[in-house]
Amino acid sequence: MNLNFKGRDIINIEELSRKELDHILSVSDKMLPLINKGSTLCKGKVLASLFFEPSTRTRLSFESAMSRLGGSVIGFADPTVTSEKKGEVLADTIRTVDGYADIIAMRHPQEGSAKVAADYAKIPVINGGDGGHHHPTQTILDIFTIKKEKGEIDGLNIGFCGDLKYGRTVHSLAYALAKYKDIEVTCIAPKALEMPRYVVHHMEKKGIHIIEKDGIEKSIKGLDVLYATRIQKERFGSEKEYTDIKGSYYIDKNIMSKAKNDMILMHPLPRVDEIRYDVDGDKRAVYFKQAHYGIPTRMALIALLLGAVK
Ligand code: NCD
Repeated sequence: MNLNFKGRDIINIEELSRKELDHILSVSDKMLPLINKGSTLCKGKVLASLFFEPSTRTRLSFESAMSRLGGSVIGFADPTVTSEKKGEVLADTIRTVDGYADIIAMRHPQEGSAKVAADYAKIPVINGGDGGHHHPTQTILDIFTIKKEKGEIDGLNIGFCGDLKYGRTVHSLAYALAKYKDIEVTCIAPKALEMPRYVVHHMEKKGIHIIEKDGIEKSIKGLDVLYATRIQKERFGSEKEYTDIKGSYYIDKNIMSKAKNDMILMHPLPRVDEIRYDVDGDKRAVYFKQAHYGIPTRMALIALLLGAVK
């Protein structure tokens, strides 16, 4: 297949074609055995891991992925220890790091920041989340998980519940699903957290059948996948706005008893209270497996962008 990833940036899932997504998934599969065996595919290469916003899974799985490819990692998990604190602008930080590393993974609270970084860096930039905007690598691990668990993505009935307004993982995944066939999407959220109209419009334009509802219990029955999300407290305008909506929905054993036997329950994590702990033992709860898939998918992406695999 003649696909060229070397030197590219990954800012937005939209810029990857279905063919390219499929290829990343197939390279991710090839990475699975290398997780324990290790490899030298990216020996001598350096990943700069620039996290201006809190992260557990995205940052650690990027760093683990690079280590397992034989490369090394520099970076920070807290921008208050960097020159940003002294007033340095992102463009200058990026122009500097460009000379220190071979590839950048970055998370930043500002929408559009990943694109700015890519404009200033000559080396590839991977967006690890820019504000409420996009989170393309989460989407790649999400679709990898769906494929692994359900065999195919085409033809599935996928429910999103929770904070569909501010959840960047939801927006990116919705755009990715729009590339597949015969998908039905059920959006389950209170009015204040509903899916942005531009995302709904995009999915509809691409032929996705969309149902919008409030209340998980009524909608869970027909779903093949339920993707739950945390209410994104940090993106609300005020504390009151958040406390008014906090705890307005959750998934527990009782709700799971109404779902299909082969439905899978996904969540990008971290969860707060939207999935009760009594659900964790349910074989349909795949969120920790999903988090683990951050390793092979990010190994695949780093190796492809560095030209270490084709
Ligand atoms: C998500 C994020 O940062 O957008 N987490 C993740 O990357 N796994 C979801 C969230 O923070 O709720």
